[in-house]
Amino acid sequence: MARTPVALSLAAAAALLLLAVSAAAGEDGKQQQQEQGQGQGYTQPAYRQPVSGLQPGYYQQSCPDMEGVVQRAVKKAIAADYTLAPALLRLFFHDFAVGGVDASVLVDAPGSERYARASKTLRGFDLIDSIKKELEEKCPRTVSCADILAAAARDASAQVGVDYWQLAYGRKDGRKSSMVDADQYVPMGRESVTDLVAFFESRGLNVFDLVVLSGAHTVGRATCAAVRPRLCGYQGTGKPDAALDARYADFLRRKCRSGGGDDAYVELDAETPTTFDNRYYQNLLHGMGLLETDQKLLPDSRTGEFVRELAAQPSLFSHQFAKSMARIGAVQVLTGNEGEVRLKCSAINGH
Ligand code: HEM
Repeated sequence: MARTPVALSLAAAAALLLLAVSAAAGEDGKQQQQEQGQGQGYTQPAYRQPVSGLQPGYYQQSCPDMEGVVQRAVKKAIAADYTLAPALLRLFFHDFAVGGVDASVLVDAPGSERYARASKTLRGFDLIDSIKKELEEKCPRTVSCADILAAAARDASAQVGVDYWQLAYGRKDGRKSSMVDADQYVPMGRESVTDLVAFFESRGLNVFDLVVLSGAHTVGRATCAAVRPRLCGYQGTGKPDAALDARYADFLRRKCRSGGGDDAYVELDAETPTTFDNRYYQNLLHGMGLLETDQKLLPDSRTGEFVRELAAQPSLFSHQFAKSMARIGAVQVLTGNEGEVRLKCSAINGH
């Protein structure tokens, strides 16, 4: 998408601000973490630094229609059920959160990531399995599930209007998938900004990526269980979260009451729930961030400026979202002789 000089200068300003903010966040963050005792283990010593072993033409000879197969399947699935678009974005993020994009979230075995608390409402597994099946028929033992998931998330994003980005391939599938790791690392919506910053930085992403990627919550839904603690008796106050707009809180209380129990859903973006726009950021300006972690991005000095910037610049959001998603798909991945190409996405080979 062509970008205006205004957008460019704002992006440049954002980049400059980012450098200043990141430097400050490094110190402030550490200090706050120590003060608040919130070091929740978001460092992952076992996982590696960003690597660049991925190649754009990786399947050119071995499976030339790989991207076509994924794209057609994703397009068809989302046309039949729009909710699969947000579901695929989230699946990709959860996979990334534990050991980089290595398809560990797709393994269906006792004690695997899929059975973690954070995975309870993940969807899209069947679609990835069916794409893998088609690719196994066309190019046996060639295309990894991690690459399929990365392509599916990219295509789902493009389908809902995000700028298209070129993907490099060659990710391998992990041979480990641990519910305990997912429970420890995947953010659940109650973390502090310090914890979220630490989580992203430990994976080679920065504060701007955190704010931009949180914008995925401009589509999709959350369970009432995720929001209920904010609606009454917030942090032992006996009152709703003061950061929540009173009318919005009222709306949510009614929706969650009439809609049933904890498994009832509310839209993450109450204003334009099925449009991938920057309304998410505008909502934050009006106390209408659904998750606690969303709303906390506004008052925090490390993230607030970015929220305001993205609220003011629709095209900046779409462009930057694509860039941050591309980064998610490239950091800490397994390549070359690491990992394997699974035969079925739901099972580590030999299991
Ligand atoms: C920054 C930390 C994040 C936290 C704390 C967080 C937390 C959550 C929570 C609690 C839900 C609702 C789950 C439920 O109740 O069913 C949710 C939904 C969702 N998240 Fe996040 N998330 C984060 C980042 C991301 C990122 C980076 C992406 C994608 C790039 C993403 C994409 C989504 C989507 C699309 C949904 C809706 C899913 C659906 O409708 O099926 N989230 N997130």
